[in-house]
Amino acid sequence: MAFLELILIALLLLTALSIVWTTLQTGISPMMSSGKACQAMLASIDRTAKGPLIDLGSGWGTLVIALARNHPHQQVIGYELSWFPWLVSIIRKYSLGLDNLTLYRKDFNNAELSNASILFCYLFPGGMAALHQKLQRELLNEIIIVSNTFALPLYQPTKVIRLKDIYRTPIYVYYWRPR
Ligand SMILES: C[S@@+](CC[C@H](N)C(=O)[O-])C[C@H]1O[C@@H](n2cnc3c(N)ncnc32)[C@H](O)[C@@H]1O
Repeated sequence: MAFLELILIALLLLTALSIVWTTLQTGISPMMSSGKACQAMLASIDRTAKGPLIDLGSGWGTLVIALARNHPHQQVIGYELSWFPWLVSIIRKYSLGLDNLTLYRKDFNNAELSNASILFCYLFPGGMAALHQKLQRELLNEIIIVSNTFALPLYQPTKVIRLKDIYRTPIYVYYWRPR
């Protein structure tokens, strides 16, 4: 086998391993929101948002890019820990010329979220519990949270949208008010 082929296989293996490693670290793979989920999450923006729209765990950029394209005058931010999906989303951002989109390779648990107008997420039960604690600790203002599939623990959603897919996937919408 040619030397170049070996290098290519090693790079592919390292990339796959890094995705598995970050999945074990964060508790969720970089699975994309479905087209129907993205549409429903986009439709939940029913007013002009003042602060940035933030995707907590932006993966390959599926939702965050749809947000930035649909709201060109709105600041859109994505946080993602897994470097390969993040790199792909960065390439997509620049190839689409989305100047209103900022993509950080960073843990959103260490990010300042208080100026956001809407938080979007597609996490897992443990991730939602950690997010709930962060919001309780740090948020002093009202904010909208839109979550694909997983609910915030001990917080009543304002609205639950059921997707017309085989799982009847829920999209939870919260109008978060600090208590
Ligand atoms: C199921 S994917 C959702 C991707 C995208 N939001 C979408 O809807 O298509 C969840 C992503 O969250 C990322 N993630 C999980 N915890 C994170 C954290 N604390 N900081 C940054 N990214 C995180 C994972 O790496 C994964 O790519």
